[in-house]
Amino acid sequence: MKSFTIAATTLLSLSAAVLGRPADSPAEVWAPHITSPTAETVWTIRQKYNVTWDTSNPPKVTNPFGLVVLRSGGDTQWNHMLAYGFKILDGSVQVTAPDVNGGDYSVVLMGDSNNWSPDFSIVSSASNSI
Ligand SMILES: *[C@@H]1O[C@H](CO)[C@@H](O)[C@H](O)[C@H]1NC(C)=O
Repeated sequence: MKSFTIAATTLLSLSAAVLGRPADSPAEVWAPHITSPTAETVWTIRQKYNVTWDTSNPPKVTNPFGLVVLRSGGDTQWNHMLAYGFKILDGSVQVTAPDVNGGDYSVVLMGDSNNWSPDFSIVSSASNSI
């Protein structure tokens, strides 16, 4: 019984070493808080904006590169990939508002984990915005 326990413990610490994290702690998921756009944001199509997020207290990031994709009605709009190949720890990336029908959208930040902004508006011309 004792030798079984030792064997099991050894196996656990071995797999922990292989996986790079303690076997008994849940996988660390980092969902950086998107600080822009917010619910009050209005983007005008074809204009440039910065998507920003909070990079304080990042875990050991396994995938350092991020992706920003448009999201609408709960669906990720893969045909509107706004930015990719930037470093997730940069905390911001400049994007061009996609040429879409006006409405409510959000952006998904993908990297070490996925996170999305609140819904905000995209309008077709500056005259439609406040
Ligand atoms: C985005 O941020 C960069 C770096 O702070 C800045 O140089 C650039 O002007 C910003 N772009 C917009 C559209 O605000």
